[in-house]
Amino acid sequence: MSLISSRAVLITGCSSGIGYCVAHALKKRGYTVFATARLPKDVAQLQKEGLESILLDLNDSESIQTAVHTVLERTQGRLYALFNNGAYGQTGAVEDVTRDVLRQQFETNVFGTHELTRLIIPTMRQHGEGRIIQNSSILGLLALPYRGAYNASKFALEGLSDTLRLELTGTGIFISLIEPGPITSRFRANAYKMFTQNIDMEQSVHRTHYLKITERLKTKEAVVPLTLPPESVLKRVIHALESSRPQPHYYVTLPTYFLVTLKRFLPYRTMDWILRHLG
Ligand SMILES: NC(=O)c1ccc[n+]([C@@H]2O[C@H](COP(=O)([O-])OP(=O)(O)OC[C@H]3O[C@@H](n4cnc5c(N)ncnc54)[C@H](OP(=O)(O)O)[C@@H]3O)[C@@H](O)[C@H]2O)c1
Repeated sequence: MSLISSRAVLITGCSSGIGYCVAHALKKRGYTVFATARLPKDVAQLQKEGLESILLDLNDSESIQTAVHTVLERTQGRLYALFNNGAYGQTGAVEDVTRDVLRQQFETNVFGTHELTRLIIPTMRQHGEGRIIQNSSILGLLALPYRGAYNASKFALEGLSDTLRLELTGTGIFISLIEPGPITSRFRANAYKMFTQNIDMEQSVHRTHYLKITERLKTKEAVVPLTLPPESVLKRVIHALESSRPQPHYYVTLPTYFLVTLKRFLPYRTMDWILRHLG
């Protein structure tokens, strides 16, 4: 058995997009992949495609605990890596996002991911090695208008992960954040669903702008300039898994490199002007 084939990786949110791509590619590369999804129909589909797939809904503690138990049982307690990928984007002006809608965003993107990570760390500590890879976003590094809930969730993920990295120093466990800009996936379609479901557009002072947002969310990523395929994230995941010195942060797509550089050098007011026009 090669070193890689003995390495087990758990991935969240494999029903589509980046998770789906990374799960298949890592399996081809020789990893033992646990491709999780929150709906039974997606688990069945992934299994049909030859992946080891189990249910994991980040909004449900019992589901997280059962998935971890199953994975650790099947790997004799030895999970090499966790790719925290599952999440969604809640669009809407901050003043239109209710407490419940914000809580829902954090339940999936932050609390579920955090709970899962906490359950996995002890086994990594026990073996003196491990990789935790967080699929964050350019929107975890800078804010755009009408993305407040998603921004806040990814900023929170960044904060928790940067702290965890400091606390894991010397344990053999590395944590990396991936910061993609626009990637082809079902992200926009899913964001559109949550936007129409959770935001009262008609009653909002922002309703005129919401028409533009609606048009944009209905647009396929493929026609958005500078969008890259999920394989561009896969490249960073592989580096974070296999390098002896994984990077703390991996930028993906030109917009991420460009905007992070601008943020570093421009005054706040100039940067705000640019970000307002991107929103
Ligand atoms: N696409 C982009 O432009 C972009 C840019 C920056 C960062 N990202 C990040 O990349 C990651 C993957 O997104 P994607 O682009 O591949 O979008 P996607 O195609 O919408 O995939 C998101 C995945 O997360 C899953 N998910 C949602 N809620 C979940 C829950 N409660 N429990 C478990 N899984 C859940 C979805 O499952 P369902 O099918 O059941 O909803 C889906 O499998 C996310 O963390 C996202 O924030 C994406």
